[in-house]
Amino acid sequence: MQSLIVGNWKMFKTVREAELFARRLVAELEIPPDREVVIAPAFPALYTVAAVLGGSAIKLAAQNVHDQVQGAFTGEVSAGMLIDAGCKYVIIGHSERRTFFGETDDIIRRKLSAALASGLRPILCIGETLAEREQGATLTVIAGQIKEGLKNINLGDIGSVSIAYEPVWAIGTGKTATPEQAQEVHAFIRSTMKDAYGKELAGKLRIIYGGSVNFGNIGKLMSEKDINGALVGGASLDIESFSEIVKYKEV
Ligand code: PGA
Repeated sequence: MQSLIVGNWKMFKTVREAELFARRLVAELEIPPDREVVIAPAFPALYTVAAVLGGSAIKLAAQNVHDQVQGAFTGEVSAGMLIDAGCKYVIIGHSERRTFFGETDDIIRRKLSAALASGLRPILCIGETLAEREQGATLTVIAGQIKEGLKNINLGDIGSVSIAYEPVWAIGTGKTATPEQAQEVHAFIRSTMKDAYGKELAGKLRIIYGGSVNFGNIGKLMSEKDINGALVGGASLDIESFSEIVKYKEV
């Protein structure tokens, strides 16, 4: 299995900045063969960055998608439009979308379904808040988000989904889950997926970790058995830091 390293640029970088950054990545980034690298710029930069990435090994993701094919939905972007702009992946259900934009598990499931119908590969984000962790509810929350997020999705499509475990308390806070904490949840996600969809699918599922990942902590996280990549926010915005992350060595 190739590990999946995704740079989530959030609401950073203008079109010009994104273009220049992508040019440098294409020219300079050394990607070991056992990993796949994806960047997720903001909507306005997608088409321009897609042209820069061209035939390179770096893939493009969007950070959000609407659940309808087209229509009178001011301010929204459809999965077909994202494919047309050059995206292969889409991040769905990021905790910032859940918290600031009221995305529920039901909305997330509809987005997932729309993405899959258009051939986009969803990266489904799940994770507990600090209060939920302190109440000992982490695994219950995770199980619920998986069940609701993937409800009624065709078995044939589930293989295109990756799951990002991002504890909300670790995002942008500098507080990373310890490799052991992350591994515990990742193993639980895999066993939940195994119970729901079978051993083969669960074995191939990429479960990536997100929340204050940087080049200093990625090696240890990646040495855990069920951690198959990383969703990187802040540390993906700088070329040197992102390059070091991509070249991580398990420790
Ligand atoms: P962070 O963000 O790496 O800045 O914590 C991760 C994310 O939100 O995907």
